[in-house]
Amino acid sequence: MTDLYAVAGNPIGHSKSPLIHSTFARQTQQDLLYKALLMPLGEFAAKAEKFFQHGGSGLNVTVPFKEDAFRFATTHTPRALRAQAVNTLKKMPDGSILADNTDGVGLVRDLTLNHQVPLAGKRILLLGAGGAVRGVLQPLLEQQPAELVIANRTVSKAEQLARDFADLGCVTASSFADVPGAFDLIINGTSASLGGELPPLPLTVFKDGTVTYDMMYGAGRTVFNQWAHEQGVTITLDGLGMLVEQAAEAFYCWRGVRPDTATVIQRLRQERR
Ligand code: ATR
Repeated sequence: MTDLYAVAGNPIGHSKSPLIHSTFARQTQQDLLYKALLMPLGEFAAKAEKFFQHGGSGLNVTVPFKEDAFRFATTHTPRALRAQAVNTLKKMPDGSILADNTDGVGLVRDLTLNHQVPLAGKRILLLGAGGAVRGVLQPLLEQQPAELVIANRTVSKAEQLARDFADLGCVTASSFADVPGAFDLIINGTSASLGGELPPLPLTVFKDGTVTYDMMYGAGRTVFNQWAHEQGVTITLDGLGMLVEQAAEAFYCWRGVRPDTATVIQRLRQERR
């Protein structure tokens, strides 16, 4: 029987998840159908309940329902518990709903496997302290960076995150202006570029070999990566690989099979040109 999966969000029209998962399914010969579900605001729990009652096997969840999905689930993976927001729900054989957050592992796999950017022993600067950043902190810290500094416009939010994750490694908080020293890797997890803005960082954050990673993606370089490039950064990566890797991790959670991500990333990059 064909198993049913979907991505739920609002808006959802531009989601690449149906294309990504259908490609994974073809590639791994899995018999499944993957749809996009536009869910009205405030109705996530009711609609998700209906989806699973009518035979749905798994849901991906995107903006703005990741916290709703966290609350909807019966059980959570440890990284989902830390993130307090989830992008993957799976119906278990006993009818319970398991929640996972695959964003962080997607980011780590894109950095370390697709781009050979080492994280262990490195100084990492993470910009932002919203849901996107909370979602990736545990997998990043599991890579054992020497130090991870969270910098945010509202410093108290960065401080709260640093406290919440202090048991997992060396994690500190800062304002943008007072970020201490230079970094091997700078990850932009703010939504500043949606308004055409940049986090106001001192240029001392850069050194020879600094890599930047923007969790956003678009046609060409993102606003943040363009700025970094103008400051002399030669490796500027965007979040398209993270998007495909988080999907692959969700696919693995559902089906127990790991799809090949490289061909899918390449295809999406070509389509974007
Ligand atoms: P998301 O789910 O994408 O993380 P969010 O939880 O609303 O969305 O968080 C947005 C993040 O981008 C926050 O860290 C926010 O900073 P504040 O905590 O100070 O609000 C950051 N952000 C948004 N616009 C910004 C801007 N113009 N300059 C700098 N940071 C910005």
